Amino acid sequence: MTTNSIGRSIARVDAVGKVTGQTLYPGDLALPGMLHMKVLFARRPRARIKRLDVSRAQAAQGVVAVFTAKDVPVNEFGLIMFDAPVLASDTVRWIGEKVALVVAETEKQAARALDLIEVEYEDLPVVSDPREAMQPGAPQLHPDKGNNVLVRYRIRKGDVDEAFKHADVIVEGAYHTPFQEHAFLQPEAGLAYIDEEGRITVQVAGQWTHEDQEQIAHALGLPHDKIRVIYPAIGGAFGGREDMSVQIILALAAWKLRKPVKIIWSREESMLAHHKRHQMFFKARWGATKEGKLVAAEVEATADVGAYAYTSTKVLGNTTLMCTGPYEIPNVKVDTYAVYTNNVPAGAFRGFGGPQGLFEAELQMDKLAEKLGMDPVELRIRNLLHEGSLLSVGTPLPRGVSMPEVAVKAAEAAGWKHVGGRWQRPHALSSTQKSKRYGLGYACGFKNVGFSFGAPEQCTARIELRGTSEIEEAIVYHSGADCGQGAHTVLAQMAAEALELPIEKIKLVVSDTAYTANSGSASASRMTFMAGNSILGAAEVALKKWRDEERPAIGTYQYRPPKTTPYDPQTGKSEPNFAYGYVAEAAEVEVDIETGHVRLLRVWCADDVGTAVNPQLVQGQIEGAVVQAQGYAILENFVQQDGKVLTPYLSTYLIPTVLDVPQQVVSLIMEYPDPIGPFGARGMGEMPYLPMAPAVIAAVRDATGVWFDDFPLTPDRVLRELRKARKAP
Ligand code: MOS
Repeated sequence: MTTNSIGRSIARVDAVGKVTGQTLYPGDLALPGMLHMKVLFARRPRARIKRLDVSRAQAAQGVVAVFTAKDVPVNEFGLIMFDAPVLASDTVRWIGEKVALVVAETEKQAARALDLIEVEYEDLPVVSDPREAMQPGAPQLHPDKGNNVLVRYRIRKGDVDEAFKHADVIVEGAYHTPFQEHAFLQPEAGLAYIDEEGRITVQVAGQWTHEDQEQIAHALGLPHDKIRVIYPAIGGAFGGREDMSVQIILALAAWKLRKPVKIIWSREESMLAHHKRHQMFFKARWGATKEGKLVAAEVEATADVGAYAYTSTKVLGNTTLMCTGPYEIPNVKVDTYAVYTNNVPAGAFRGFGGPQGLFEAELQMDKLAEKLGMDPVELRIRNLLHEGSLLSVGTPLPRGVSMPEVAVKAAEAAGWKHVGGRWQRPHALSSTQKSKRYGLGYACGFKNVGFSFGAPEQCTARIELRGTSEIEEAIVYHSGADCGQGAHTVLAQMAAEALELPIEKIKLVVSDTAYTANSGSASASRMTFMAGNSILGAAEVALKKWRDEERPAIGTYQYRPPKTTPYDPQTGKSEPNFAYGYVAEAAEVEVDIETGHVRLLRVWCADDVGTAVNPQLVQGQIEGAVVQAQGYAILENFVQQDGKVLTPYLSTYLIPTVLDVPQQVVSLIMEYPDPIGPFGARGMGEMPYLPMAPAVIAAVRDATGVWFDDFPLTPDRVLRELRKARKAP
């Protein structure tokens, strides 16, 4: 096999179109005679709709139609379960609940007509804290969910009570991890129309064309082949486009009106009406021997689902696995709960529940290290998962565990030295200004690749080889979504390698359900891994037909990875995942103890990506994830109070800009091949995000002597805790 396409930082296939502005995003699309849609959101967290009268809106100038719940044939949606209405019929459970849709000749007319819709609400008691929502007497948000608990998981391994008796040190902690907004570049937008074959066609930014198609078909009560989904340029996703936003409502309007219909959400609408990263509450108790061997970990987690399930069951599954960190612990007891509230629904966001669980685990490790008087890297290295280790769920990790190598790489890069048989941290930067303190923190973790816990998993590719005596071009048909991460470039590189063709001969037909088969979503760090294996299979079939003189030679292949299994309800025993990537990170911070400002100065991030198909894209993912997690740890403060969002603008919800990013992010790209990864590749899009928040908090502890069990580290929080610590005896 040639090696001329894998491992090269070739220019992205979408680069020229994007930098010249030729490429169209959903918000740029237009068709002659198209109509414009606006959504009436409830903007109240919990209510009964007593009366809904759209007649005045319907009669307003330019208005073509107003749609309500009774216009939706099967009025429900949801990625895991159909517990959310497309349009509210009688009950409002969160502020972003859609109540009615106005379609008019202009956007202005549609917006004006929203004010003419008469809704009489009866407001109902709100519950906005998942811990309160579990208590007896709390408002019940869904009829079939007692105590508002959507799902719970248990892990039981060994005997924690017995093990704690033999622990020399025990650390107990309580933690909270905050919401986070995806803040992707392109707010929700799209265009729907009837195509030349009579299909309801929706052009929209998403993460999984065939899932969008499925949910649209379900809600409209139509067969799949009547629905076509096309992704133009996406403009960022990060998990925030996994659940339905404008897909179903656009399709509904185009179907009813037989005319093109367009929508663009404002940034405020986007921030109110799509899901957020779950806030979670943790209680933890971990024990170790004085030699620094973990003996037991007991963790309880409560995740805030918000009003509807979205992907919460799966996110909580991931938290349940990650909340004991990348460590071999002989005795584990984990209890986790996902609980409905009247907050904005929570769902997928880079790391998918992993960052929350890992935050608790890594802080517990740091506190244990302190109590033992042991370097935090040394304690970790004594307990890391390695080849053959049993997970908390009682089964071994898939082969190819590189956690120890990755952990050492990041530590050494950040200045740790192995002296006298022990890891020792470097000296901290010394302060030149009176108010500045410096610190260094470290954390490590791992991230599954692909759908977990028995979820059906597959990816399909088709390759068409054209030419007569030699292959003139190879057309790769693939649904894989390029959310901006560079997936399409990587698909082309892997196809070129598999076919032994120069990259120039690869043509892509992507993300259009009329031509491309189901790829599964661009999520769970799975696209490179799954798409690569599907392309390898399709290339083999196509090349065989080519040798048999078929012209064109067409190969279709469905890749299915090894099976995974769900948690046992009592013990959690399972084979949760078929592949993982491993990551370790060190962060250096500056804390201004007078203003409370925390600055991230330098980051060292070691990631085992198996094979870096395109090293520059890998570096882009590392740097992007680091900055996104920097926002999570330090800056981004999504405030909900009694079910209302107090920060619905980017002027009140601050994300990192170029002035905030670290001076240096050292990407340490490691390549220990995954035994079943395509060309050895592991998925990596989420990994570098995971250890960032705990590494930053550990660095701030190093700088100031204060632990933060809650974040983001906004100046007010930092100052408050520093003052409290100063006052403490
Ligand atoms: Mo991702 S959070 O698995 O879309």
